[in-house]
Amino acid sequence: MKPIIFALPGNEYLSADIIAGTKGEKGNFEIRQFPDQETYVRLLCDVNKRDVIIVCTLHQPDAKLLPLFFLCNLLRDQNVNSICLVAPYLAYMRQDKQFNSGEAITSEYFAKLLSSIADRLITIDPHLHRRVSMKEIYSIPTEVLHAAMLISEWIKTNIPYALLIGPDSESEQWVSEVAKNAGAPFIVLQKIRHGDRDVEVSVPGIEKYKNHIPVLVDDIISTARTMIETVTHLKKAGAKDPVCIGVHAVFAGNSYEELKNSGVSKVITCNTIVHQSNAIDISKLICSVIQK
Ligand code: R5P
Repeated sequence: MKPIIFALPGNEYLSADIIAGTKGEKGNFEIRQFPDQETYVRLLCDVNKRDVIIVCTLHQPDAKLLPLFFLCNLLRDQNVNSICLVAPYLAYMRQDKQFNSGEAITSEYFAKLLSSIADRLITIDPHLHRRVSMKEIYSIPTEVLHAAMLISEWIKTNIPYALLIGPDSESEQWVSEVAKNAGAPFIVLQKIRHGDRDVEVSVPGIEKYKNHIPVLVDDIISTARTMIETVTHLKKAGAKDPVCIGVHAVFAGNSYEELKNSGVSKVITCNTIVHQSNAIDISKLICSVIQK
């Protein structure tokens, strides 16, 4: 039987693509806030013994988690066969160790919580850095998809003479992959983060690539400090106006406007989070794994 697909608010476009791509059924339900901001959820379809997919990308996760928790519990009470959570952006992956004594390793607590409400998780380029595998923190099966090939294709089509730039050593894993598939050279920079919004970046060896268009590629753009700092150094070194590509358009506060005003030619993201910068579609990637 075909899956039933539920879209948490804000996930309607991707959900529609998944319904079309899997020939699934749309899950009808009502979700709203009471005047006191508590959440009301009501199922409007039969889910008995059905496989259910919930689409809920998890940027700004704190406000999303309780509605998701309620929906999963409601579905269990109505005797679903399975719950697959599609969270193209997975939050709380960056706090993966105690940087200072007494800190919560929230990536572990978050993983424990999601593992308790869903049976399977599908996500795209989660921020695995100190951890190698999702299995280290998630006890449910997880499928990790990568946007690298789609980004390479976008670069091949749109940027004729690209030099790929990874803003820090953590980015090397996907920048090297994107560069290989785009047939372009790459360099990886050194980054020191002094605080939430205080990032220092160095750009060694850029002089060799004066005629290339720098294409910065990173998994997450949040405060955009990493990108802005890199753009500033590139401009000082006489590079052409860079193109910035992020997988996940988190864009905290005014960071999108700040990045656009920092001297870049374009800011491009994948649609793991709905944003005006979205130009690379990941829906087929997700459908391909759901249908397996
Ligand atoms: C860090 O490890 C990530 O790969 C990104 O470089 C980082 O999340 C970007 O953050 P921001 O936009 O706040 O500089």
